[in-house]
Amino acid sequence: MYMFSKSLEERCNRILRDMEGSLTARDRVGIQDFVLLDAYTSESAVLDNLRKRFNENLIYTYIGTLLVSVNPYKELGIYTKKQMDIYMGVNFFELPPHIYALADNVYRTMLTETNNHFILISGESGAGKTEASKKILQFYAVSCPSTKLLDNVRDRLLLSNPVLEAFGNAKTLKNDNSSRFGKYMDIQFDHMGGAVGGHILSYLLEKSRVVHQNHGERSFHIFYQLVEGGEEDLLRWLGLERNCQRYSYLVQGECAKVSSVNDKSDWKTVRKALSVIEFSESNIESLFAIIASVLHLGNVTFVADSQGYATLNNSPEIHWLSKLLGIPAQVIQVGLTHRKIEARSEEVLSPFTVDQAVYAKDALAKAIYGRTFTWLVNELNESLANKVSVSSKTTVIGLLDIYGFEVFSVNSFEQFCINYCNEKLQQLFIQLTLKSEQEEYEMEGIEWESVPYFNNKIICDLVEEKFKGIISVLDEECLRPGEATDMTFLEKLEEKMGGHAHFVTHKLADQKTRKTLERGDFRLLHYAGEVTYSVVGFLDKNNDLLYRNIKEVMRQSKNAIVKHCFPSTEPDSKKRPETVATQFKSSLVGLTEILMSKEPWYVRCMKPNEGKQPGLFDDVLVRHQVKYLGLMEHLRVRRAGFAYRRRYEIFLQRYKPLCPDTWPNWKGTAAEGVECLVKHLGYKPDEYKMGRTKIFIRHPRTLFATEDAFEVCKHELGGITNMTYKPITLSACVVLLATKIETCWRGMKARREREKRAWAVKVIKRFIKGFMTRNQPACVDNTDYLAFVRQNYLTRLKENLPKTVVDKNTWLTPPPIMQEASQMLRKLYTRHMVRRYVQGIMTERKAQLQIKGLTSSIFKGTKENYPHSVGIPFVDTRISEEDIHIKVYQMIRQERIKYSVPVVKYDRNGFRPRFRQLIYTGSAAYLVEEAKIKQRVEFNNLKGVSVSTLSDNFLILHVQCEDIKQKGDLVLQCDYLFEALTKLCLVANKHNFIKVVQGSVKFDIQPGREGFVDFKSGQETMIYRAKNGHLMVVSMKLKTVWPFNSQNEQIHFLNYY
Ligand SMILES: Nc1ncnc2c1ncn2[C@@H]1O[C@H](COP(=O)(O)OP(=O)(O)OP(=O)(O)O)[C@@H](O)[C@H]1O
Ligand SMILES: [Mg+2]
Repeated sequence: MYMFSKSLEERCNRILRDMEGSLTARDRVGIQDFVLLDAYTSESAVLDNLRKRFNENLIYTYIGTLLVSVNPYKELGIYTKKQMDIYMGVNFFELPPHIYALADNVYRTMLTETNNHFILISGESGAGKTEASKKILQFYAVSCPSTKLLDNVRDRLLLSNPVLEAFGNAKTLKNDNSSRFGKYMDIQFDHMGGAVGGHILSYLLEKSRVVHQNHGERSFHIFYQLVEGGEEDLLRWLGLERNCQRYSYLVQGECAKVSSVNDKSDWKTVRKALSVIEFSESNIESLFAIIASVLHLGNVTFVADSQGYATLNNSPEIHWLSKLLGIPAQVIQVGLTHRKIEARSEEVLSPFTVDQAVYAKDALAKAIYGRTFTWLVNELNESLANKVSVSSKTTVIGLLDIYGFEVFSVNSFEQFCINYCNEKLQQLFIQLTLKSEQEEYEMEGIEWESVPYFNNKIICDLVEEKFKGIISVLDEECLRPGEATDMTFLEKLEEKMGGHAHFVTHKLADQKTRKTLERGDFRLLHYAGEVTYSVVGFLDKNNDLLYRNIKEVMRQSKNAIVKHCFPSTEPDSKKRPETVATQFKSSLVGLTEILMSKEPWYVRCMKPNEGKQPGLFDDVLVRHQVKYLGLMEHLRVRRAGFAYRRRYEIFLQRYKPLCPDTWPNWKGTAAEGVECLVKHLGYKPDEYKMGRTKIFIRHPRTLFATEDAFEVCKHELGGITNMTYKPITLSACVVLLATKIETCWRGMKARREREKRAWAVKVIKRFIKGFMTRNQPACVDNTDYLAFVRQNYLTRLKENLPKTVVDKNTWLTPPPIMQEASQMLRKLYTRHMVRRYVQGIMTERKAQLQIKGLTSSIFKGTKENYPHSVGIPFVDTRISEEDIHIKVYQMIRQERIKYSVPVVKYDRNGFRPRFRQLIYTGSAAYLVEEAKIKQRVEFNNLKGVSVSTLSDNFLILHVQCEDIKQKGDLVLQCDYLFEALTKLCLVANKHNFIKVVQGSVKFDIQPGREGFVDFKSGQETMIYRAKNGHLMVVSMKLKTVWPFNSQNEQIHFLNYY
């Protein structure tokens, strides 16, 4: 569900209600948009739909935003003001297809996106292009904002049409109002959407029509309009009779009168239009004088004199020509019968034969008319020029209405140019819709299956390629010295184009095809079908020569327009001017460039039958057009593709008010913003795709719904855009004020932000400079940086100090400038830690630890089981005084008992174990068995103590005994070995008499008799008398762990302290 507000819903309902009338009812026939056609790949299905709709007078159908139009050849009543009102400002899909819907959509897109657009109207001759372009113009005339000034521009824009049509359109076999020139018209709009001006570009007028028309065709409408509609006075002044039959140039096609054309009323329209466009009366006079002159010129006849040269009777035509053009009759006479040539350094007049004179006369008629047409377009442009909003920026909608593809029974140079032009437009269409569209999907990384299409580039190249194309060959023949003729041109073509898939001549054709070709023909396989061209006249028409002296004659004219058209500044250089075909080619390149710079829209016009008949739908003819207009391919691309795409930035900028997360500012990337926005709007996953730089929206309806929501939102925000609205309500006023306050607040915040940024830039710059000079001696550039480094290091160090003294790894590596300071700090901090710790320890604990420190100094790193003893606290004594036999106690009491511990004593002979008590007094160590003192060792007689390096708990007390009767050394085993030995050291006040011995310990059994205790590691603890008589002590190998328990740490601290 889209999250659109209620007002939008109401609006949609209103539109739907409006549509409930005749429009929608009628339009339920077939399908309005081919994109919705199930069998969209079937040509027949497309044709069926077109036919079904055509039979119900529904001539418009969409393919996405492309409009297909089938000429109804009758008035349908669908172009009324009421219809225009219905389509104004309503989204494309909401109403049945119409040229107004397209026009409105283009207009509104232009306004919202403030960019330029063009509408390419294409189709063959008679398909309805000119009518379509007129309808679009009429729609804008009604729908655009209106002021007195704008109305003036609007009227001129509208009225430029009948004037141009009068001078540039003619009846042909295909179309009673066939455009014989190409027209591209820019309509300029100001930012409020007012039409403020226009500009017309015209392309290659078929001026040969002035002197010759095929059977069933006419010259340009203006001649007939003047003769039929001109006021009596005017005709009299122009020396014309009200009878077209009287004029040779008007009767070549033998159909001066056409029932579908009302020359009389058209004359009135043109006359009025000329006044509204503000052509001056003198210009209008000069203009009609020229039209009449051409008619008089057409009636000039020549007769051959005795030498065969052309002569002119002093005919009335020369008189009228002289009067209307303001040139002496004699001058005209000579000009029409002679040619100036250069003989050596002199210029001499060479007389014409009759044929040459007729040729020169026709050339003059064509030149006058052609140049006058160009003048007319320039005048219209002056009149249409934007004088309303000169300062502000304008955007344009271009309308391209050019002569359609045409095939006659005899086709000449003109058809060649016209059809080439249509090839170019088809190429542009392919470029913009099929090729670049598919390329864009690829570029944007949108999954895409290519749609094959016929690319007519091959035909364009055949015609226009430099040095190789038909135009090049034609120019070469026109410009080369020697006898070049139309036939030599054909031969050259055959030489160069032979074998080209789209080119064939009588000579090159196979037998079957040859029958359909004359010897002077060449046939091109255009995108729209085959056309056989007769080469007759190609060279002449391409050269379009006008003898120099006749130009000089025209320069003498008093007729202002003629004078303007034949300026004395025109170079008379001997260099040949560019040929017609080459000029045309260049102008089409220019046109393509103009179009490529704008956003394209398309109207594809079709003819339902060849007979201009209403209600007749010729399947074969329409199918052919569906094919060559590329509608099927376009449909497939549209169907598979996306109707709308916009750069993320533009899309987000426009629609961000629709989502609270993106309004008013989105912090992330534009793509993320768009993603967030469309999710909020409820786009379904298959309705859109995110490309690399753009969002692609599959159906127009999705976008239109978004646009509608935006419109509603915009109104709710009350005038935050620069559009004009109706008077605002109180609540809107409050919103407006709130918006204003918000704007100020945002402005202030933005300014602060800007200051902050400027400050940041300065700091960053200083920082970078400091970084670059950090290794140099302290200077202005690096002072701040180094201070920052110091501060930064110290701050980080503070947060990352080691927790214990034994933690040697947690000291932050200092930057080079802090090396020394870091070392000092580390020492200081360690001392500080130790000090703090030690200060926190109790006196008793301290004493205990000091003793442990002594143990550590003796056994750390020397005896295997020392680490395991560290954690076990020492106690004052292991045997309480009550547990010492009273007799013993009484005997030694006066020596003061310091410490006692149970031990196992091994007999010196036989090594039998005996449980004994070992008691230290102030002066001796006693080995006690119950009530008997078994041995007393005075500390003075204690030579030393041996222990092994292993994990056993044996100690051998070495006793001084010179006396043989004395007992020898003591071999003892004590569970509290380290405690007992440390206490012994302390009591006996002997610190260095403990030896930690590896392997074997020799001891005295009695003076002069030795014994041995051997120590080794094994799987289990064992004590036994070995075969060698030694006492074997096997102890288990312990893992050399050094448990850093707290006691251990404390000992460490104490050592340190
Ligand atoms: N929408 C329409 N409604 C009624 N009649 C139409 C419509 N479009 C075209 N026609 C009829 O078809 C005739 C030919 O149309 P139009 O002059 O627009 O053809 P064209 O495509 O411009 O041909 P060309 O290429 O020869 O200039 C018109 O004069 C008119 O009679
Ligand atoms: Mg036309």
